[in-house]
Amino acid sequence: MSSSRHLNDGGMSDRPVAPLENEERGLSRRAFVASGVGLGVAAGLAPLGRAATALADKPSSTKLGKGDAAILRFLAAAEILETDLWQQYNELGGIQDSEVPGGSGSKRYIEALEVLDEDMPQYIHDNTEDELTHFTFLNAYLESRGAEPVDLKPFANLPSSKATGAQQIGRLTNLMQLTVDTTWWTRYRSNSKNPDLGDSFAPAVPGLAKGEHPAIPRDDKDLEEEQHIQAIANTAGFHFGTIEQGGTSLYPSLAQRVRDPEVLRVVLSIGPTEAMHFQTWSDKAGNAPPLKDPETGLEFPDLNEPPPPNEEFKTNLIMPEPTVFLRKSLPIVSIVRPTNTQGVATSVAEFLTAMGLFKGQSTGFFEALKTLASEADAAKPRG
Ligand SMILES: [Fe+2]
Ligand SMILES: [Fe+2]
Repeated sequence: MSSSRHLNDGGMSDRPVAPLENEERGLSRRAFVASGVGLGVAAGLAPLGRAATALADKPSSTKLGKGDAAILRFLAAAEILETDLWQQYNELGGIQDSEVPGGSGSKRYIEALEVLDEDMPQYIHDNTEDELTHFTFLNAYLESRGAEPVDLKPFANLPSSKATGAQQIGRLTNLMQLTVDTTWWTRYRSNSKNPDLGDSFAPAVPGLAKGEHPAIPRDDKDLEEEQHIQAIANTAGFHFGTIEQGGTSLYPSLAQRVRDPEVLRVVLSIGPTEAMHFQTWSDKAGNAPPLKDPETGLEFPDLNEPPPPNEEFKTNLIMPEPTVFLRKSLPIVSIVRPTNTQGVATSVAEFLTAMGLFKGQSTGFFEALKTLASEADAAKPRG
């Protein structure tokens, strides 16, 4: 295992993103806002800010317990995998800059993504940057508490897209043959069902649940036919939501097994950013134009037109509908779902595998993922 500082290169980008770069990029919009300076509140809050920083910087002296370390290691692995897939989206469909370097964009793919929202490249860039910081922080935090960071670099051997704009480097994940589960669409719109109570849900795009679909252009030929590249962009639009709803459930599910207060703070502070991503993507996916891919036959239905004539598909219902939670005898409540903690890491690994994200990966990769997941699931729940 190498140091986390070296994890940023292999499979993620063509050059390392050193911690120093965070300082160099001090004028970027997001760093500017995060610092507080951009909000015009620096002067008034400075003394409080300094005190809080001093407290936060005090290193925790105790070594992480086995369960907490295993949970953070699984989360770091999940974030490395997220970064790998988001990096591929950013190279072709996002904004390539010092925050998220690599690739040079694909004009036709970007235009098709912009049909969903003109800010799609910015959102893709920002989601990618967030994942990069999630895994970099988690690995650095693990090391700071005497635990081993996660390194998946040896498994970054899957091929890149051959479309102009993509880097030609080894990848951990596959975005060119995906089977996308879009049942989150109705799961968050239902007011009477919950996956934790054994309920199942209809997919928004039934065609994505079978077959293998590209979510990025595989080569420049994929850019030629307008409805075909739009279908690829639509697939990406729904895949974004599928990935980020997973993160939205994963963090609260694992948080229930965390023991150390600071680790709980880490998990509870990163987790909700996945929900912010999910909320954005669930809004944008609703803008995917109805169409039939002339090359593959994949259909994107009009979700506002019957059939299905009910509220579980309407595109503007992007806020979570309150639903049953814990027991049906309790009143309905607006919640993240699922949040069951039993075997969650293993089921997330299986969910990602079932969507074809690791198609072509080695036995060693699947063994490593399974071990990370089962160690996280072995952490005893609180109480
Ligand atoms: Fe993340
Ligand atoms: Fe995420």
